[in-house]
Amino acid sequence: MKLTRILSVALAALSILASPGCAQDKEPSSGARLYLQYCAGCHGSNLKGGSGSNLLDNEWRVGGSTAQIYETIFTGIPSVGMPNFGAQLGEEKVREIVSYIEQVRATGDTGAPAKPVRSYSKLENLDYNVNVDVWVDGLNDPWGLAFLDERRAIVTEKNGPVRLILDGKLVPEAIEGTPKVVADGQGGMLDVTIDPNFADNGWIYLGYSHQLSNGKAMTRIVRGQLDGMKWINEQVVFEAPPATYMDTRHHYGTRIVFGPDGMLYFSIGERGRQQNAQVVNLPNGKIHRVTPDGKIPEDNPFVATPGAIPSIWSFGHRNPQGLAFNPVTGDLWESEHGPRGGDELNIVGKGKNYGWPEITYGINYNGSIVTRERVREGLEQPILYWRPSIAVSGIEFYTGDEFPYWKNHLLVSSLAFQELHLLHIENDRVIHEEVLMKGRGRIRESIVGPDGAIYCVMNDPHEILRLSSGGERRY
Ligand code: HEC
Repeated sequence: MKLTRILSVALAALSILASPGCAQDKEPSSGARLYLQYCAGCHGSNLKGGSGSNLLDNEWRVGGSTAQIYETIFTGIPSVGMPNFGAQLGEEKVREIVSYIEQVRATGDTGAPAKPVRSYSKLENLDYNVNVDVWVDGLNDPWGLAFLDERRAIVTEKNGPVRLILDGKLVPEAIEGTPKVVADGQGGMLDVTIDPNFADNGWIYLGYSHQLSNGKAMTRIVRGQLDGMKWINEQVVFEAPPATYMDTRHHYGTRIVFGPDGMLYFSIGERGRQQNAQVVNLPNGKIHRVTPDGKIPEDNPFVATPGAIPSIWSFGHRNPQGLAFNPVTGDLWESEHGPRGGDELNIVGKGKNYGWPEITYGINYNGSIVTRERVREGLEQPILYWRPSIAVSGIEFYTGDEFPYWKNHLLVSSLAFQELHLLHIENDRVIHEEVLMKGRGRIRESIVGPDGAIYCVMNDPHEILRLSSGGERRY
């Protein structure tokens, strides 16, 4: 580190010591404004974390001294998806942000007006009064949820455990013998789904971050069966070639769904290497399609392309964490975390290129440009993009009987914005978008239960909410 930078960091530290403790009645400092603009989307407006880490606890990846925090922000941590801000913001602005973080750490005061905690139990929209109940709590970072039947559901926890819910109660012990995961950054035990013929064959599919002995990791899909609380008969359904495993710890994608064609579709994010999304010889930045036992369907688009990964179905994706088949058209719909202002909703077609990072509606999180191109012939356009990014996670078409007016509309879950959206769909167009729920926590995914209620997998607080009808409002 340059001497000037060390000096300026030391000065910044002094100015914090000199500044009065309470910032409540003042204009937000420049550091506070920069933090909200560039950092809050990942680290939370209260600095307590989101997709980025909690900046108030004392756990540091690099280190918590003023100089180390400055260095982290200036140069980023590329292996985990922490962008670098030095070139874009310059030394002074980075210093102001460090001062702000240290001030909040010292005083516990973000300077922002305290937000009321939202713990409402009722919502309403034009169609329904909606009851919001905590269905299951006491979870640790839940990620994926799948119902096995009317009474049982499986929920994954990101740091590894796979848990059983029986009659709405979480079984205290985890299922024994599920795969070992690398729970670091955005990786861990991620999605779960069941076989369309589960009642006959008992297959459950898990998607997770798998680590080789060299420390590199990639998304892997296995299936197994339950014998009481034991995971048995495990088979690998998809495993990437070892040479394609990576040191990075983010953008794993990993949503798994079955298609009406009986095939298993799943997503892998570009693992923090943007350009890899365009290379069909690599598994990352792709939607994949395999048979339930992991074979390559003959009609996959790249089976005859030399060197290509034959499970690839579509490419040019950034970090897709939502997949759902449209029950009316039979098409595969996909959502992906974009760069800043570029979250996307796509209809995925065989062999098509969705353009990341050649075209995008977003910019890098540090404010630099990915590309100015939005549209290019041969590259697919999204059918919707979110600006600002809502941090779009799971998507699911509503198919139950609890909310008949919502049939075949799309539920979209957002992490950073803590929102559940309802998208009214006609053919291939989104004709109306409504925020059904907001501010109850980060939403990983929302699925339709066998009873037609909507179950939302929540982070912060870590629980599953059940949304049921409190009566029609269209009298
Ligand atoms: C695109 C998301 C994203 C944005 C935007 C972002 N960060 Fe991060 N940041 C991360 C991730 C991911 C990590 C690594 C978290 C982990 O350790 O698992 C991280 C780590 C950090 C760390 C190190 C924390 C530790 O535990 O050692 C600091 C400090 C930090 N970020 C500050 C900032 C500041 C200040 C900004 C705004 C200028 C910012 N970040 C913007 C994602 C982001």
